[in-house]
Amino acid sequence: MPRKILVTSALPYANGSIHLGHLVEYIQTDIWVRFQKMRGHDCIYCCADDTHGTPIMLRAEKEGITPETLIDRVWHEHKRDFDGFHVGFDNYYSTHSPETRHYADTIYTRLRDAGLIEKRAIEQFYDPVKAMFLPDRFIKGECPKCHAKDQYGDSCEACGAAYQPTDLIEPYSAVSGAAPVRKQSDHYFFKLSDPRCADFLRGWIVPPHVQAEAGNKLNEWLEGGLSDWDISRDTPYFGFEIPDAPGKYYYVWLDAPIGYMGSFRNYCDRHGLDFDEYWKPDSSAEVYHFIGKDILYFHALFWPAELHHAGFRTPSGVFCHGFLTVNGSKMSKSRGTFITAESYLKHLNPEWLRYYYAAKLNGSMEDIDLNLEDFAARVNSDLVGKYVNIASRCAGFISKKFGGRLGACDRAATAEFEAAFAKGEIAESYESRDFGRALREIMRLADAANLYIAEKKPWEMAKQEGREAELHQVCSTALTLFRDLTLYLKPVLPTLAAQVEAFLDIPALGWTDAWAPLPEGHTIHEYQHLMTRIDPKKIEAMVDENKQNLAPTPEPAPVKHAQHQQAEAKAETVASPWEPFISIDDFTKVDLRVARIANAEHVEGAEKLLKLTLDLGTETRTVFAGIKAAYSPESLVGRLTVMVANLAPRKMKFGLSEGMVLAASDERGGPFLLSPDGGAQPGMRIK
Ligand code: 2FM
Ligand code: ZN
Repeated sequence: MPRKILVTSALPYANGSIHLGHLVEYIQTDIWVRFQKMRGHDCIYCCADDTHGTPIMLRAEKEGITPETLIDRVWHEHKRDFDGFHVGFDNYYSTHSPETRHYADTIYTRLRDAGLIEKRAIEQFYDPVKAMFLPDRFIKGECPKCHAKDQYGDSCEACGAAYQPTDLIEPYSAVSGAAPVRKQSDHYFFKLSDPRCADFLRGWIVPPHVQAEAGNKLNEWLEGGLSDWDISRDTPYFGFEIPDAPGKYYYVWLDAPIGYMGSFRNYCDRHGLDFDEYWKPDSSAEVYHFIGKDILYFHALFWPAELHHAGFRTPSGVFCHGFLTVNGSKMSKSRGTFITAESYLKHLNPEWLRYYYAAKLNGSMEDIDLNLEDFAARVNSDLVGKYVNIASRCAGFISKKFGGRLGACDRAATAEFEAAFAKGEIAESYESRDFGRALREIMRLADAANLYIAEKKPWEMAKQEGREAELHQVCSTALTLFRDLTLYLKPVLPTLAAQVEAFLDIPALGWTDAWAPLPEGHTIHEYQHLMTRIDPKKIEAMVDENKQNLAPTPEPAPVKHAQHQQAEAKAETVASPWEPFISIDDFTKVDLRVARIANAEHVEGAEKLLKLTLDLGTETRTVFAGIKAAYSPESLVGRLTVMVANLAPRKMKFGLSEGMVLAASDERGGPFLLSPDGGAQPGMRIK
C-alpha cells in the first residue's frame, strides 16, 4: 500500500543566501523524498521562505525597498539555488501567504480559547529615535565580562560569555545608535508552563517522534521546567497582525512552522488534495520535519504542543541533524570556506556534493565535515573510478560490434546483486536516513561488478576471433549491473540517473526494476561520457572566490537553543576575535600545575559531576569536575592531568571545590581531559 507522506525541511530566512551549510539539510531531505517516491509512495515535499521578523524589515528599509519586494527577490534566488542542486520540492512557497496567515490565526485562536494564551506586560529595550523595541541582536555595547566593545545583546563574540542585553555596559541601538530606554508593553505568551503541555510532551518526546539522543536533550529541557513563550512583537514589525490585538504581531517563530502547513495547503488547493486528511488528529498520513539541531526546541516542544492543543495532528517524526564543518572547522569567510550555493555551482557539479554529503550522513545528530581533499578523492574514486567506469568500459563494444543491441545476461554474475536486493539493506538504510551505509553497500556491489569485468577482460575478447558471443554477454551483463547501481544511486544522483535512463533507453527507474535483467535484443544509445573527475584546481578557485578579507573566524558563540549558523556567520566582521589580548602578567596569575588523580568517585545526586582527589605532590585537593558524561571514575585513577591550583575555593552543593581541572570541548565532542607528556611530575608548574 502506498504511504501518504508529507515531508518538510526548515524554512530558510528570506534575507540571506543559501550556503553549503543549509544544503546538508535540503540535500538530505531530497534524497529521502526521492527514495520514497521511487518506492511508489505518495510523498510530498513542501518548503517555503521564512519571511517575517525585524531583520528582514530593517534590511528592506536599508535597501530602500518594501519587505515584499525583498522577499520576492530572495525567493527567486533561493529557488534558483535549490533547483541548481536538484532539490525537488513539490511546493516552494512563502510564509507571507494567506494560507499561513489562516493557519496562524486558527492555531492562535484555538490556543486562546483553550486558555493557553496569556497577556502580560514586560519591560524591554526600546530605541527612542527609531520608535521600536529592539531584539537582543540589535542592541550592542561593551561586554560585561571581558569589556570588548560593540558586542551583541545576547553574547560576546570575543570571550564567549552569554548574558542579558540589560547586562551590557553603555548599550546602544544597532539601528540608530541611540541609547536604548526601558519600556513596558503587553506581550502574548503561549503558556508552555501549563501542566497540560508538560504532560503531553513528556509522552511525546520519545522515539519514533524524535531520535533517542534528541529525546535526552528534550527531557533535560522539560525536566528543567518549560517557560511560557513570548509569541508577540510590537509594531513596527513585518509579519501578521494578531486578530484581537491591534499593533501586535505574531513573532516570526510562531508562524514559521505554520508555514509548513501554509505551503502544503497551497499545494493541496492546486492539486485537489484534502488538507485535513493529512492534518486531522487521527490522520493515517505521515508528517516528517527535517531540521538542524539548533532548532530542535522549536520543533519538538513548542510545535507539537501548539498543534496538539489546537486540535491538529502532531508530526510522525522530527529528524534532527548536525552542522557542517569545512576542513574540520566552522565555515569561515576569511578562509573561503563559507561557500554559497551560487558560487559552488559556478565551479563544481552539484551531484558531487550530493554524493559526498550522502556518504557522510547516517541519520544522527553528529556534525558532518566537508574535507575538500577527501571530497575530491572520494568522488573521483567512487563515482568515476568505480561506477561510471563500468559503463565506459563496456558500452562501446555494444555499439561498435553489436549495433547497440544487448545480448543475453549472465545470471550467475547478477546473482550477488539479486541477493543484495532481496536482503533489502540498501532500502532499509535509505529509509532510516543512514545514507552512508547505503552507499557503502552500493560501492561494494560496484566493486563486484568491476571484478567481474576485470576477470572477463572484454577488451581482450574483442581482439580475439570467435569470442563475439562471450563479449556480447559480458558487456550486456555489465550494463544490467550498471543499471542496478544507477537505480540504487538515483535518490542521490537524480540527473546522472536520468542521463543513464536516456542512454539505456529505459523508462524512469523505480525501486523494483532491479529484479529483471535488461532484456536481450533491447537497443541502447551510444555511450556519452557521464561524469568527469573533480579537478582540485576548481575547488581552489571556488575557495579563493569565497575568501573575504576578514579577521579569522571567532570561536562559536555560547550555546543558546535558537542559535543559528547563519546568524553566527554574520558576526564575522569583528576586528579580531582574540581581542582583548591579555598581558603575560595576566597569564602568569593563573597557577597551572600537573596533578595526579589519586581518587575519583561518583557524587550522589549529581548528574554531571565526579569528585576528584588531586595529588599535587605536597598536598591533595578535592575538585568537583563536570566530566561524568565522558569518564568513568575507574578510568581516571592514577592518571596525570592539569589543574588551576590558585582558583579561589568554591562552596558547592556537594562540598568545597578547591580548584579546577582543564578539559577541551566544543560542539564536536568532549570534555577531553588534558594530560602532560611523560616525565611530568605532580606539582610541576605549567608556564
Ligand atoms: O532557523 C532558521 O533558519 C529558521 N528560518 C527555520 C524555520 S523552520 C520552520 F519552523 F519554519
Ligand atoms: Zn566578552
